[in-house]
Amino acid sequence: MNRRRLAATAHALVAEGKGLLAMDESTPTCNKRFAAAGIPQTVDARRAYRELLVTTPGLGDCISGAILYDETIRQQDSHGVLMVERLVAAGIMPGIKVDTGAKPLALHPGETVTEGLDGLRDRLADYALLGARFAKWRGVIALGQGLPSMACIRANAQALARYAALCQEADIVPIVEPEVLMTGNHTLARCQAATADVLAAVFDELATQGVALDGLILKPNMVLDGLDCPEQASLESVATATIACLLEHVPAGVAGIAFLSGGQSAELASARLNAMNIQAQYAWQQLPWPLVFSFARAIQQPALDLWHGDASNRQEAQEALLHRALCNHAALRGQYDASMEDHVVPDALPFRPARLAAPGHPGL
Ligand code: 13P
Repeated sequence: MNRRRLAATAHALVAEGKGLLAMDESTPTCNKRFAAAGIPQTVDARRAYRELLVTTPGLGDCISGAILYDETIRQQDSHGVLMVERLVAAGIMPGIKVDTGAKPLALHPGETVTEGLDGLRDRLADYALLGARFAKWRGVIALGQGLPSMACIRANAQALARYAALCQEADIVPIVEPEVLMTGNHTLARCQAATADVLAAVFDELATQGVALDGLILKPNMVLDGLDCPEQASLESVATATIACLLEHVPAGVAGIAFLSGGQSAELASARLNAMNIQAQYAWQQLPWPLVFSFARAIQQPALDLWHGDASNRQEAQEALLHRALCNHAALRGQYDASMEDHVVPDALPFRPARLAAPGHPGL
C-alpha cells in the first residue's frame, strides 16, 4: 500500500470545483432504466449511451472521476477507442464498481447485505491493469418498522471495511458508500438517527481493518425525509441535519465526502448540495472535508431522457449532462441558483474553468 499515492488520488477526486460522475449501473439496472425510457436493452445501446457520456465536451472541467461498470471498463467506443482512454484524455480518472450487488440478508426480511468480497483481490489487480484508480462499493440500509437491524448495519459496515482494505492494498482508493434509502415515510430525524448509527459502525469497522482515512472517500446519503413523508424539510434543514450528522461521525482525516443522489430530482440534489456548501462557508469552524457530488441519476437522467436511444439527440443529451455538471460545480461554492436551470453563464461560475469560459463552447 502506497499511502502517499492513495492520498494524492483521493484528494484529486475531490479537488476544488469537481465531483464524480457515477455511471456504474449494472447491466440489469441500466436495462431497467433503458426499458423505462423505451430504449432497446442491448450492448450496442449501452455502448452508445456510455460513449455519449464520456465524450461530452468540457466534462473534465467539472468532473474528476467517473465510476464505471465492468462492461464499460473493458469496452471500446464506436471508433475502437477504449472508454477508459476517452476519460483519461478528458482529464477524468476512471474508477470501477466492484460490489456484486445487495442480496437478501439471512433471517432479516426486507434487509440486504452487499456481496462481492470473494475473489476481490484478484479482480482489483485486474481492474488496476485496466486503468482503475479508485473503486466503489455500496451497502444498502432500508428504513421501516423495526429497520434497520443491527445485523444489517454491522454486516454491511464490515463488508465495506474489508472491501476498503483490499482496495488500499492494491493502491486503489475506495469509495465507501453506505446508503440509507429514501424509500418510506420516515421523518428527517429518523433518517438522521439511522445515518448516524450507520456511519458510526462503518468508521468503527474501517478503524478495525486499519484503513487509511486520507486515502478514502465517503459517499453517504443526504439526511432527508422519506419520499412518502408528508413533511419535506427545507433546503436549510436538510443541510443542517446532514452536516451535523457528518461532523459527529466522520473523522476529520477522511479525504472527502461525495454525496449520492438516491432518487432525488436533479434540481433538488443540486439545491441541497448548494445549501450545504453555503452552511459550510459560514460554519464557525471550517469543515474538515470538501462536500462534493457523486451522482448517477441526478446528473444523468436529463441526458438519458433527451437521448432516447436516438443518435440525432446525442448533442442535446451531452449538453444536458454538461449543464447538470455545471450546476453541481456551482453548488460546490454555494453559488447554484434555480435560475441556472434556464441558462448557465460560464463567466459567472465560481471556479471559472478556462475552457468553459471560451465563447461558443459547445453545450452552452
Ligand atoms: P444515485 O446518485 O442515482 O443514487 O447513484 C449513486 C450511486 O451509487 C451510483 O454509483
